[in-house]
Amino acid sequence: MSVYITTPIYYVNAEPHIGHAYTTIVADTYSRFQRLRGQRVRFQTGTDEHGDKIAEAAAREDIAPRAYADKISGKFRAAWPLLACKPDNFIRTTDPAHIALVRRILQTVYDKGDIYFDSYTGLYCRGCERFLTEKELVDGLCPDHRAAPREIAEQNYFFRMSKYQDKLVSHIKKHADFITPVRYRNEVLSFLSEPLEDLCISRPKSRLTWGIELPFDENFVTYVWFDALINYLTGLGYPDDKNFHEFWPTAEHLIAKDILKPHAIYWSTMLMSLGVPLYKKLHVHGYWNNEDAKMSKSLGNVIGPQELVESYGLDPFRYFALREMSFGLDASFSREAIIARRNSDLANDLGNLFSRSLSMAEKYVGLIVPVPVADESEIDHELREAAVAMLAAYNENMADFRFHRALQAVWELVSHANKYIVTVEPWALAKDEKQKPRLDTVLYNLCEVLRLLTLVLRPVMPDTSAKMAVALGYAPDDEAVASLPVGGRWGVLAVDQRLRGCPALFPRLEVAKAQEKQSEGSIQVKAVKHGDESQAGETGQDIADFRKFDIRVVEIVAASRVKKSDKLLRLTVLAPDERIIVSGIGQYYAPEELIGRQVLAVCNLKPAKLMGITSQGMILTARDDADGREWLALSTVMAPVAAGASIS
Ligand code: MSP
Repeated sequence: MSVYITTPIYYVNAEPHIGHAYTTIVADTYSRFQRLRGQRVRFQTGTDEHGDKIAEAAAREDIAPRAYADKISGKFRAAWPLLACKPDNFIRTTDPAHIALVRRILQTVYDKGDIYFDSYTGLYCRGCERFLTEKELVDGLCPDHRAAPREIAEQNYFFRMSKYQDKLVSHIKKHADFITPVRYRNEVLSFLSEPLEDLCISRPKSRLTWGIELPFDENFVTYVWFDALINYLTGLGYPDDKNFHEFWPTAEHLIAKDILKPHAIYWSTMLMSLGVPLYKKLHVHGYWNNEDAKMSKSLGNVIGPQELVESYGLDPFRYFALREMSFGLDASFSREAIIARRNSDLANDLGNLFSRSLSMAEKYVGLIVPVPVADESEIDHELREAAVAMLAAYNENMADFRFHRALQAVWELVSHANKYIVTVEPWALAKDEKQKPRLDTVLYNLCEVLRLLTLVLRPVMPDTSAKMAVALGYAPDDEAVASLPVGGRWGVLAVDQRLRGCPALFPRLEVAKAQEKQSEGSIQVKAVKHGDESQAGETGQDIADFRKFDIRVVEIVAASRVKKSDKLLRLTVLAPDERIIVSGIGQYYAPEELIGRQVLAVCNLKPAKLMGITSQGMILTARDDADGREWLALSTVMAPVAAGASIS
């Protein structure tokens, strides 16, 4: 099967921002998902370059509209690779092929008698670039642009939209998922319950010259929407190209709620007049606000793609965008929200599952996928069922543009697997030779969950998924991690496959509040870095003070819980002398996980008594509570060193 997915073509009067980024990421994720299912996909985006807004923006910069459009269109084109968005076609309305097609279609519709000349007086909103009806105004103002429309009286050409009203209503009623989510379908039906006016589709050249000239009257240019919507056909080589025949019947348009009417009504009736079957679906999403305020250039809170990626990382931003917005509703962007998602969903839940499982596979089976036993226990069965349920929910929700639900389902499996580890305690199994088959089964199951996660996260976080694939010993395009028909079931991971182990998938972030460039509306975030000189400044401490502390790498040789305490663990460490350290990490680490680990500890503190045990040192941890839940991460060294090595 084939899939044709489009984004709106963006106006070149402003640079790309998070709103455009979201729509394009959704379209990219959907096309990657359909490819994962084995479909042939065509994904199109582009820029909308004619009309009042562009002519005005160019005039403000004192350059010709075409040169201005070239500049901004180039920025859109360059933005998408930064977000790992890979459209198959990038269309511009100033492309000669598009201009020729718009003229050809205008002529066809005119010859058919669906365009007529008339005089007209109307209320024109520059922001919307269209005439508004009295009913659309709120307190006499355009509700979107909060500006009074201008009364314009002039002679113009009109498209007989009203002629197709009944046919459109019955099409929408007959095809329940023509416009989704349903609230937008209802909105369109309610609008269509009143008589539809014909659409003014020309602008006299005396008022606007930056547009496509009408083929039947050189004194007029085409209204920008009549020009722009046709891009969806131009991009397929309508009417003769094989792409048109293959992809048009599958067309799915993706837009935000701001341009519902032009797509649902203007475009559908234009297609009816042309005699071209309607597109298959219109998917409508809500609006992103910045910290609950509307984003606008004048408010200075517009965030560009490059900044987003530099601040948060590419995949975390893609994940956040898809997980945080319930498709169809508005959502709010804030640095706290994205950092919380990154630290909790990605670093804690997914990242920990991945590194824990692979480090156990390294320790217990030398990174070779072991043989699972046939007679699995109840808990293994539940894990497998959870994986199968995740696949079903994922497929259904991704196909229906409910990305947040699909990701919720994926994270249910992540947390199920994390609990599985805590319950089965692989480290305990490893101590008993008789439990070897059980341990092998557990490790197989965990690696198989990791493989399935790698597969389903591929459309959402392509880079991370590729890293995960490599860590599991796959080439990134291996069908086990790159094809749902092949890999989308339990048990595909081959026994004896050599795993590679993996680096941290998501280094944790903290908000560097002091560095926020509020005035520019930009957000600065940096990786956690202790002892950052820039923070010490004039008031910093003397290095001699630091040297007073004897910080060493110690090796944990034994660990147990301190009775009657959730938090405290009793650790026997080599520093290199053997000593006992009591540490408050019991809520974050199981004692068994720690044996053989090298961590940092201050070794020359006065001994302290904790719950009756004398502690001869302090283990160093990084505390993170960015998402409101405290998490302690042990500090460690990147390569094994001799126990007792000192830190300088
Ligand atoms: N040029 C027209 C579309 C013509 S399509 C034949 C246009 N361009 S636009 O640059 O204004 O882009 C509007 C689209 O950008 C929205 O429909 C949405 O896809 C995206 N967004 C712009 N700002 C947005 C938010 N703040 N939030 C979510 N998406 C938004 O309209």
